[in-house]
Amino acid sequence: MTATELNKRDWAALEQKYYQGTFKRQPITLVRGEGIHVWDSEGKVYLDFVAGIAVNVLGHCHPAIVKAVQEQVTQLIHTSNLYYNVRQIELAELLGIQSKGMRSFFSNSGAEANEGAIKLARKYGRLHRNGAYEIISLHNSFHGRTLATTAATGQPAYQATWAPIPDGFKQVPLNDLAAVKQATSEKTVGILVEPVQGEGGIWASNQEFMQGLRQWCDEQNLVLICDEIQAGMGRTGKFFSYENYGITPDIVTLAKGLAGGIPIGAMLTGPRTDLFAPGDHGTTFGGNPVACAAGVATLETILEQNLLENARKMGEYWNSKLIELCAKYPGLIDSPRGIGLMRAVHVQGDQAAKIVQKALEHGLLLNAPDPRSLRMIPPLTLTAADIDAGTELLDRALADVAASRA
Ligand SMILES: Cc1ncc(COP(=O)(O)O)c(C=O)c1O
Repeated sequence: MTATELNKRDWAALEQKYYQGTFKRQPITLVRGEGIHVWDSEGKVYLDFVAGIAVNVLGHCHPAIVKAVQEQVTQLIHTSNLYYNVRQIELAELLGIQSKGMRSFFSNSGAEANEGAIKLARKYGRLHRNGAYEIISLHNSFHGRTLATTAATGQPAYQATWAPIPDGFKQVPLNDLAAVKQATSEKTVGILVEPVQGEGGIWASNQEFMQGLRQWCDEQNLVLICDEIQAGMGRTGKFFSYENYGITPDIVTLAKGLAGGIPIGAMLTGPRTDLFAPGDHGTTFGGNPVACAAGVATLETILEQNLLENARKMGEYWNSKLIELCAKYPGLIDSPRGIGLMRAVHVQGDQAAKIVQKALEHGLLLNAPDPRSLRMIPPLTLTAADIDAGTELLDRALADVAASRA
C-alpha cells in the first residue's frame, strides 16, 4: 500500500470497532521495517529497541529470513505432523547441536512450549516420582497466557481474574534457594525458571541460585525447566541463557526469536525427561515448514555472523551509555541492569511510561514492563552506531521528562 492509501483509513478507530480490547497500544501504526528501523503509516522512522518484544533478533525483514520464507512458500507451506518434514528436522538438528543433544518438539508460541514442558514434567512425576505434579516457579516470572502458564506465572495480577486457576503451581522469591527447598514436598515434580526474567523487568538469577537449583533437582529427583523464551536465542551473549550459569536443565523452552519473527515455539528435552510417546502431545501447525525454514535461517545467521559475541560486546557498550545517562539524569533513572542485549534501568517516580512516550515522539521505541522499569531488547545485529543514535534519542526523551518535572 502507498502512504496515501495507508492514510485514507483511521486504523485506531477501525481497531476499536473490530478488534477485542486486549492490548494497550502505542499510538502508531507500523507498516514497514528494515534492520533496526521501522516506519509508521505517516512515514515517520523509529529506531527499534523493542524488536517485537525480543522477537526480531536479526532486525526487521532480514534478507536471510525473507529468502528462506519466500523459497519455502513456493515449495510447501503446510503438511501437518502426519509426515516427515525436512525443515522441521533441520531446525531440530541445529537446536540439538546447540543444546548438546536435546530433542525438540515445536509449537506455535511460548505459552504452548511451556504447556508442553509442564505436561512432560507431569509425565516424569507419574513415572518416576510417585505421581508428583506440582511445579515451583518464581515470583515476578512470566510464562504465558494459557491457564496453566498463567498459574505458573508469579504475578498475581495475571491470575486474579481467572480463578480458579489450575492446581499444581506455587511460587517462591527469585534467588532464594532456601525458599525453594522449603516449598518442595512429595507433590513437587519440578522447578520452572527464567534464568533472566524478561517481562518481570530484566532480573538475572545469581550463580549460586541457578547452580543450587540444579543440585537440588538432582538430589530430590526433580525436573529443572528453563524458560528461555525471552532470554534464549543469543540475547544474553550465550545461545541459551542457562549457559551463563554452567548448568544444564532437563527441559528448555524457546519461542520469540527462534524464527526471527515467524510464529514458533520449541520445547527441548535431554534424555532424562525424553518421555513423550506417540499420542501424548501434538499440534496441527507446530513445526510448520515455513516457520522452521525461518528458524533455520535465523539460527544459521546468528552462528555465521557471530551474533552471540556481538550481543555481549554491544550489551557492554549500551550499558556504558546507560551508566552515562543515569549520571546525567540522577533524579530520573538509575541502576542499569541486565546482561547482553537484555537491559533495563530503574525509573524513579513511576515515570517509565512517560519516558517511553517521549522516546516514541523522538523516534525511539522502548518499552516499560512496569512503571519503574525501562526495558531494551534490541536485535542482536545492533551496531555501535545504532547505540550512539539510541543514546541521543533517549537523552532527548529524558531531558523532556526531567524538564516537565522541574
Ligand atoms: C519468558 C517468557 N515465557 C513465556 C512467554 C509467552 O510467550 P508467548 O507470548 O509466545 O506465548 C513469554 C512472552 O513474553 C516470555 O517472555
